[in-house]
Amino acid sequence: MAQGLRLVLFGPPGAGKGTQAQLLREHLNVAHISSGDLFRHHLGQGTELGLRAKEYMNKGELIPDEVTIDIILDKVMSIPNYDGFILDGFPRNPNQADVLEKKLSTESRNLDKVIHIDVSEPELLRRLGGRYICRACQSPHFIGSGEDASAKKCDQCGGELYQRDDDAPTAVKKRIEVYNTETTPVLGFYRERGVLVDISGDNPVDEVNKLVMAALGS
Ligand code: AP5
Ligand code: MG
Repeated sequence: MAQGLRLVLFGPPGAGKGTQAQLLREHLNVAHISSGDLFRHHLGQGTELGLRAKEYMNKGELIPDEVTIDIILDKVMSIPNYDGFILDGFPRNPNQADVLEKKLSTESRNLDKVIHIDVSEPELLRRLGGRYICRACQSPHFIGSGEDASAKKCDQCGGELYQRDDDAPTAVKKRIEVYNTETTPVLGFYRERGVLVDISGDNPVDEVNKLVMAALGS
């Protein structure tokens, strides 16, 4: 039996990782593991992990590896060996990439592809300024400044939409800075392994999706 695709969607805050993962997940029939969604779920439930994560998330900083790595690797390794997955938001520094690689190689299920969605900073700021998340299913939406956000519901499940605390301008600035300093070195890690594909994410959602599918050979 062929193994399912093991994919990392990589890119700066607002690049469209969550948006593309949602489109791919049904098409490829694989699990979507988003580290940010997982922490926000814990935050919504008021768990100890969620409260700890909030301290870092709201400032736009990375949550320490000793909190992050075990919880994400447990999720990844809980996926049956022959099923695929899309990782979104992990790994986010070279140590996370290294630990993930070692763990996956123990079961001969290394990553097939890492797709880097590159987007210009002015476009990231525009998207995050209008981004609304569903409280129930976490789907991202964009609502322009001329539209009445309070009248809108999630187009996936009808849930309530809200703006993330870390989409406030100071936190966004910090998140982009952290991405540029702590996260971009991971690109070199995957480039060396020959699994990295760079695509332009500045295009509309469906065009980016076509580029992602082409990168996957579909
Ligand atoms: P996380 O939730 O992963 O946030 P992020 O990486 O900053 O990325 P975003 O979710 O903001 O953007 P996205 O790329 O998913 O874009 P989206 O599809 O929503 O992490 C949050 C925090 O958790 C971190 O800061 C950190 O504190 C912590 N954390 C998470 N993982 C961690 C880790 N591994 N280690 C340590 N800490 C960790 O799209 C954005 C908007 O644009 C939406 O409104 C969407 O509708 C719109 N849009 C999408 N694509 C397009 C397009 N092509 N054209 C026009 N609009 C588009
Ligand atoms: Mg996201």
